[in-house]
Amino acid sequence: CLWVRNLRLKRRLPGPFAWPVVGNAMQLGQMPHITFAKLAKKYGDVYQIRLGCSDIVVLNGDRAIRQALIQHSTEFAGRPNFVSFQSVSGGKSLTFTNYSKQWRIHRKIAQTTIRAFSSANSQTKKAFEQQIVAEATELVETFLELSTQGQFFNPAHELTVAAANVICALCFGKRYGHDDIEFRALLRQMDQFGQTVGAGSLVDVMPWLQSFPNPVRSIFRNFKCLNKEFFVFVKSKVEEHRQTFDPKVTRDMSDAIIGVFNNADTGTDLSEDHTEATVTDLIGAGMDTVSTALHWIVLLLAKHPEIQAKLHALVDGVVGRHRLPSVEDRTHMPYLDAFIYETMRFTSFVPVTIPHSTTSDVTVTGLDIPKDTVVFINQWSINHDPLRWKNPHIFDPSRFMDENGCLDKDLTNSVMIFSAGKRRCIGDQVAKVEIFLFFAILLHQCSFEKCPDQDFSLNCTYGLTLKPLDYKIRAKLRGELIKSQ
Ligand code: HEM
Repeated sequence: CLWVRNLRLKRRLPGPFAWPVVGNAMQLGQMPHITFAKLAKKYGDVYQIRLGCSDIVVLNGDRAIRQALIQHSTEFAGRPNFVSFQSVSGGKSLTFTNYSKQWRIHRKIAQTTIRAFSSANSQTKKAFEQQIVAEATELVETFLELSTQGQFFNPAHELTVAAANVICALCFGKRYGHDDIEFRALLRQMDQFGQTVGAGSLVDVMPWLQSFPNPVRSIFRNFKCLNKEFFVFVKSKVEEHRQTFDPKVTRDMSDAIIGVFNNADTGTDLSEDHTEATVTDLIGAGMDTVSTALHWIVLLLAKHPEIQAKLHALVDGVVGRHRLPSVEDRTHMPYLDAFIYETMRFTSFVPVTIPHSTTSDVTVTGLDIPKDTVVFINQWSINHDPLRWKNPHIFDPSRFMDENGCLDKDLTNSVMIFSAGKRRCIGDQVAKVEIFLFFAILLHQCSFEKCPDQDFSLNCTYGLTLKPLDYKIRAKLRGELIKSQ
């Protein structure tokens, strides 16, 4: 029973003293991942905290995290049954569902669909890349318009629209204009999604906060509304696809998923209803993460003009000024990848994964963790471990270059941002291509300058993703504007 489980957890794991009712909730601070890393110095890489009514095990550092997620992949593949998780994708999300046979099949379907539309063969690969190039060139034009007469602007929302458009084009075969007011409003709302499902969100560990007026209740009500609205939006698009569905022609990911669920006999409760949920999951996961990566990239380019100049020289040398960069240029510009890896490491913009839970009793680094324990996985702690990274708090892409001017694969593999094991992100390859192409095209076409009368800090808000606080830049065209073919 729960009581025996909690007693065992209390006995076996180190951790800070937990206060009645709130536990350690008041100690998390504004940046829980940094607090978790500090607690690891005192209690070791595996320790226990209490948040409200939940005992939670926090995993830090490369050894403990990889031991858990890779060596004990099944035992750590669960998700807790948090109240916020039930509001996502009409309650049928694959991301926010516990480990089961049904989840395994659901994940496989999503994985196969992503592959079919991004990398299955040279034709789909090319089509996917062209979508991104078209989106990136439109983004360049929008940035230049917003910079007319030397104005400074906040690029955040345009980057979100651009990332959302790539995944919408994959899912619905349709993109939306930067001036589509309804779409922009929907995305503005979705920006708040990560505040509620990030590790340490209070409503999940103190469900009683829903029963009287307080800020957590308002945030949670807002969260439920935005999920509903987003789901209704996706549902209407999937319904349009159903009306015009032709099994002989698969136009986009929605068609592919409709086709699978029409024909699937999975021996589980997976049904046609899961089509909309799968599409919602993919769009949700694909836009917030990629757009956050791009926010940080643009900010770091503007913050480090000397690095930007080096990147400009590199891209001009390899690509020239008469065409846009392509994926084929990638291997010739390893320093661009070094910049992307350093952005992922340095910002660790998904600092803690989506909360996991244990599917059975398990032992990690000699410590016993019972079944059904909530587990937080602190990716930030791996990316900032001073034993692995020299001066981890300094942004320095050249740390990833070896003495021959090549990418140090050993080091790039040490960065953790897509998690590992059975719950590892299924969009990592798509994300890497997207980020590279957006980055290379923005860099080739524009130079970025920060607003001089603004404190250009690296401060951010915490959630499932770390988002930079508002910042302003301006973009200047470098040479001739090149449009996608
Ligand atoms: C899950 C990172 C882009 C689809 C995750 C998780 C992380 C992550 C940390 C949670 C893993 C865990 O709980 O252990 C990222 C980052 C991205 C990115 C950093 C971009 C830079 C994408 C894209 C897609 C996607 C483009 C889809 C096209 C998913 C899905 C899951 C997931 C479906 C849930 C997997 C599951 O629960 O089994 N991602 N992701 N992600 N990601 Fe991504």
